Amino acid sequence: MNTITVTSPLFPPLETLEPYLKDIWDKKWLTNNGHYHQCLENALCEYLNVPYISLYSNGTLALIAAINVLELKGEVITTPYSFVATSHALLHSNITPVFVDIEPNTYNIDPSKIEAAITKKTSAILPVHVYGRPCNHKEIQKIADKYNIPVIYDAAHAFAVKENNQSILNEGKLSILSFHATKTYSTIEGGAIICHTKEMKEKLDRYKNFGYTNETEINELGFNAKLNEVQAAFGLATLNYIDEAIDKRKEVSDFYYTHLNNISGITLPNIPENLIWNYSYYPIIIDQNVYGKSRDELYLKLKENNIISRRYFYPLITDFNIYSQYKVETPIAKKISESVICLPIHHLLSDNDLNKIISIIKNNENK
Ligand SMILES: Cc1ncc(COP(=O)(O)O)c(C=O)c1O
Repeated sequence: MNTITVTSPLFPPLETLEPYLKDIWDKKWLTNNGHYHQCLENALCEYLNVPYISLYSNGTLALIAAINVLELKGEVITTPYSFVATSHALLHSNITPVFVDIEPNTYNIDPSKIEAAITKKTSAILPVHVYGRPCNHKEIQKIADKYNIPVIYDAAHAFAVKENNQSILNEGKLSILSFHATKTYSTIEGGAIICHTKEMKEKLDRYKNFGYTNETEINELGFNAKLNEVQAAFGLATLNYIDEAIDKRKEVSDFYYTHLNNISGITLPNIPENLIWNYSYYPIIIDQNVYGKSRDELYLKLKENNIISRRYFYPLITDFNIYSQYKVETPIAKKISESVICLPIHHLLSDNDLNKIISIIKNNENK
């Protein structure tokens, strides 16, 4: 039985990658701000409609770099409903994560609860555009301005997302992307930081290269988080296919909507009219009392049938042992975390695959 995976990495056709590889082999330049690294930064600025971008070797190191370049200290307000990399980046930087509950409809940090969590030690807000659904950035920015602290968006899921035709990646002081193979757009491993000034871009470029200003000068700390030429070439070749892949994801999303919309006890993602989404995940919420089976029962039933869904994000970050000292009650995040299941969504799903998924979810209804 063939396995239906929750996602599938987007590969450029091999023959479109070959000329890049041939050129890299000829030039013998593999990393350290090479030609294709620069080409990809320029191409992404244009594609994403952002002013400056600094590529990184992954999203986690991009987050840590952002935190350190802004010299954050003390406490940072964030969400427990994310992949653990978000708050790990804070712990790595000796910062106390202060967790705030999420909104029940977007699963993003609830701005109305942020102010109560601010103390004299708060140095920033680190929200996540969960599943690529934009945060309530206007309200978040109002609070940040009032307390004169920066907002860094973990935009790992938000590649190419637009709200009112504007890139969501321009919100906040910095936005972090992940280009991991499981993401809508990938450089195999990879990430990036989006910023608004040339000075900040240069700082971020130095940070990923040990802090070097030039061959003989280092004035700031840094580490190694450079993206190499082969991955940059993979990213450039993939950019030509990303629109098509997102369109395919949209078709999957539409299919799910058509077939699952009237199943009682299942809440589907709601996509506001002003949002151009990337369909990076397809989270559904199971109300066991109405649907008749628990989230975990459905998860296992799918698994028995070789359909790999994911309980993103379960457990909550605050439920990991290592976060026990930072745990606070976040009842909405807890409830969503215990009832969410992300269905397979990617550019290679066939009608057969989708029909199989739908029939298992439907057969499961009230049984
Ligand atoms: C919300 C979020 N933040 C950060 C990351 C870390 O990105 P990476 O895997 O590229 O280090 C991920 C994904 O892996 C993520 O989902």
